[in-house]
Amino acid sequence: MINDSENTEISMDEVTYKHQAMEEVLASYKRCLLTGTFFDDFYKALLGMSPTIREKFIHTDMARQEEIIKTGVTYLLKYFCNPGPLTMQKIVDIGESHAQAQYDIPPYMYGYWVSALMATVANHDPLFSATLERNWQMVLDHGISAIKSLYI
Ligand code: HEM
Repeated sequence: MINDSENTEISMDEVTYKHQAMEEVLASYKRCLLTGTFFDDFYKALLGMSPTIREKFIHTDMARQEEIIKTGVTYLLKYFCNPGPLTMQKIVDIGESHAQAQYDIPPYMYGYWVSALMATVANHDPLFSATLERNWQMVLDHGISAIKSLYI
């Protein structure tokens, strides 16, 4: 007897729902980029979260931050929407560089990362809403779970 929870089929409703969520998040991201200070403000919000977070970036060249954050957000969005082999590999690379042997970013710190990003999106996107926030979180969670699972 097949249990419902073991059903691996994906309904069209679920596909449409995910697709719509992704479209809304991409549109929101584009609005955020228009302000010109999105990455700078995100980095400030992240560093403002806690001294433990600031400590992790002590040796980071501030000039590289924008590029690092931009790459990170882009790959998380790609991973949700249409992950090809390069995107998959990039997520694995990020997971490995953030594991104990390198930057040592414990899984709880991703909660700060998402909070900082959501606060920044809220400030930059004039169409921000609770629904949009839930969509952003769903999209980000997908890649973040993969990255966190590589924390060894
Ligand atoms: C899902 C969330 C995150 C993504 C997508 C992400 C992505 C990236 C990427 C692409 C890089 C540069 C390439 C690399 O070295 O792998 C990087 C570097 C780094 N990340 Fe993250 N990151 C995330 C979360 C975090 C968090 C929560 C912290 C700490 C609070 C953190 C700390 C760092 C540090 C310290 C570096 C090295 C910067 C340097 O070059 O000095 N990251 N991250």
